[in-house]
Amino acid sequence: MSAVEISGLTKRFGDAVVLHPTDLHIEDGEFLVLVGPSGCGKSTLLRMIAGLEEPSAGSISIAGRDVTDAAPSDRGVAMVFQSYALYPHLSVAQNIAFPLKVAGVPKREIAERVASVAAMLDLDALLDRRPRALSGGQRQRVSIARAVVRNPRVLLLDEPLSNLDTALRARMRHEFARLHQQLGSTMIYVTHDQLEAMTLANRIAVMSEGRIEQVGAPLDVYRRPATLAVATAIGSPGMNFVAVTIDACDDAGTSVRLPDGAVVRTAAAVPRSALGAPATLGVRPEHLFAADDGPFAGTVELFERLGPLSFAHLGAGGAADTLVAQLPGERAVTLGKRLRFAVDPANTHLFAPNGRAYPPNACTP
Ligand SMILES: Nc1ncnc2c1ncn2[C@@H]1O[C@H](COP(=O)(O)OP(=O)(O)OP(=O)(O)O)[C@@H](O)[C@H]1O
Ligand SMILES: [Mg+2]
Repeated sequence: MSAVEISGLTKRFGDAVVLHPTDLHIEDGEFLVLVGPSGCGKSTLLRMIAGLEEPSAGSISIAGRDVTDAAPSDRGVAMVFQSYALYPHLSVAQNIAFPLKVAGVPKREIAERVASVAAMLDLDALLDRRPRALSGGQRQRVSIARAVVRNPRVLLLDEPLSNLDTALRARMRHEFARLHQQLGSTMIYVTHDQLEAMTLANRIAVMSEGRIEQVGAPLDVYRRPATLAVATAIGSPGMNFVAVTIDACDDAGTSVRLPDGAVVRTAAAVPRSALGAPATLGVRPEHLFAADDGPFAGTVELFERLGPLSFAHLGAGGAADTLVAQLPGERAVTLGKRLRFAVDPANTHLFAPNGRAYPPNACTP
């Protein structure tokens, strides 16, 4: 059992609260992905779990044991950083063996474990090389090998792939999925990459300004973001946001008014007190569809062809901000053309001024 239990965990640097009191339960063997904008506290949370940063308050337990005051080496955790931090004067084999040597593991066992981890990460042929003679992807594999060689109960990974090119990232992403299956260890993985988050995670935790805003299965978080911050963090290209006024609500949902007066139907439930109040309407690019009488209008300012699909960036039309709409790959669009789009009420998101999403239901009395 190597579940991680975080209760009331808090971090302050002087007056600044970097992590507000946080509770989080990570299941034994779970792959949890932490996402959120730069500076929101992801690394700080990870470093506290690793024991590299002292909490200001709260506790951490791993496998049922309180490790809040335990030394990093006594927690059964290993951490992989964005920069590989390998020892340049040691060979790959010596780099991987290093933590075992420090822990006083017998030589024969070290050799066996290094060989087994090297095989798992496809490093067999590179064991005698020095780090400088390796590619970025190979170096990161060595630092992962060094982290897993001690059979950590919990593996912490802080943007481990962000220094690699796209092709290597894709390959390493598959390797992480495989590694997780093979090791069965609990993994907490920080990334800015949407694909990594959506494909690797059992659950995603979205952070914003020192708080965990939402934790859930990747698709649930994608389909039903609980706050504006979560809606902003998940999805690429990101969700479109339009400042609206709440116009009317009935059993079927809520109507909102765009800045130019056009009305959009949503499936949100708002309290009657919200009538006439401002709100933020959110629509993902793939949910805007071309419609001659659609409420969203704009002039095509940028057209991106990705092959199987395209993105049209529309300048100030019905909305004050630019809108991005996803189009089928075969559709050609000329710059400067004025287009109209509509959205199915079920595919809209409506956020209150405090950033909370209104529930997708009928109007509440
Ligand atoms: N030692 C420190 N002293 C003071 N402030 C710190 C310290 N370490 C981190 N911070 C601040 O804490 C906040 C959270 O930092 P953290 O490194 O956890 O962010 P992050 O979510 O990992 O960001 P990124 O995605 O850029 O890596 C930032 O505002 C940072 O400036
Ligand atoms: Mg960080």
